Amino acid sequence: MTVITIDPELCTNCEICVEICPMSIILPSSEGETPYSPEDAAAYCAKCGHCEVFCPEGAISTLFDSTYYQLQDDEFPSIPPSELGKYMVMRRSIRSYKDESVDKGIIDKILDISRYAPSGMNKQPVHWTIVHDPEEVKKIAGLSIDWMREVMASEEDHPLKPLMPGLISAYEMGIDPICRGAPHLVIAHTPADNPTGYTDSIIALSWFELAAQVFEVGTCWAGFLSIAAASYKPLMDELELPQGHVIQYSMMFGYPEHKVKGIPGREPPRVTWK
Ligand SMILES: Cc1cc2nc3c(=O)[nH]c(=O)nc-3n(C[C@H](O)[C@H](O)[C@H](O)COP(=O)(O)O)c2cc1C
Repeated sequence: MTVITIDPELCTNCEICVEICPMSIILPSSEGETPYSPEDAAAYCAKCGHCEVFCPEGAISTLFDSTYYQLQDDEFPSIPPSELGKYMVMRRSIRSYKDESVDKGIIDKILDISRYAPSGMNKQPVHWTIVHDPEEVKKIAGLSIDWMREVMASEEDHPLKPLMPGLISAYEMGIDPICRGAPHLVIAHTPADNPTGYTDSIIALSWFELAAQVFEVGTCWAGFLSIAAASYKPLMDELELPQGHVIQYSMMFGYPEHKVKGIPGREPPRVTWK
């Protein structure tokens, strides 16, 4: 059963849904026809709700829970919880970017907030590499695809292997499934022997993406790139991290191309009270 329904009466065939679907399971139809999601693609749906909340016409409905987030009123001394909650749940992964650079001064301000993220024993081990040159971002995306080609040609049993043929062919068709055409990358790295380096980096990147939002900068975690960069020598060499450092994770960022209209549903908290 298909999990995504598009109302042909409301759809204007702008194809934003096709463009932003992280799993590429919404396909364009022939000219003048409504895009569609094949039934057998339902198993791959990430249930992110982006198709619904990015659709300017409200033409898309989903069969999974997509009730809009409701904040409950509570007391908080300085920032009203409803405001902070709204701000945090409004964050979305951005997969379509304007062809416009983010000023280095703004990136500095985001990093200045992010450096206050907690870290194990307050060692503050996170270092940042900002890839500001969009041409370099493209090169890094290409190297990540080269890594996938190498994995495909090998006997290696990699958990991402089933996804790789689709990503490689998208890339060969001129789509960038790795960095999504973002102009910039932020890479968090730490000395390899830091015991909390990975956790600290993830926390710091989470702060980066929340802080970025206040400057209207959109972000998306770059999972494929981060995995490739952990082992693929040509990509590691290209990043030129300091001696003894390892990449912990990376994110793409830039100004979002599309406005988001709502907040998609998420699982309720799964809590055990004791
Ligand atoms: C560790 C991690 C890796 C991710 N890697 C990618 C990626 O490589 N490409 C991508 O488009 N989205 C990536 N994402 C974004 C998720 O798909 C996204 O967070 C999820 O679909 C929920 O959407 P939201 O962030 O808008 O709430 C990643 C997210 C995380 C946390």
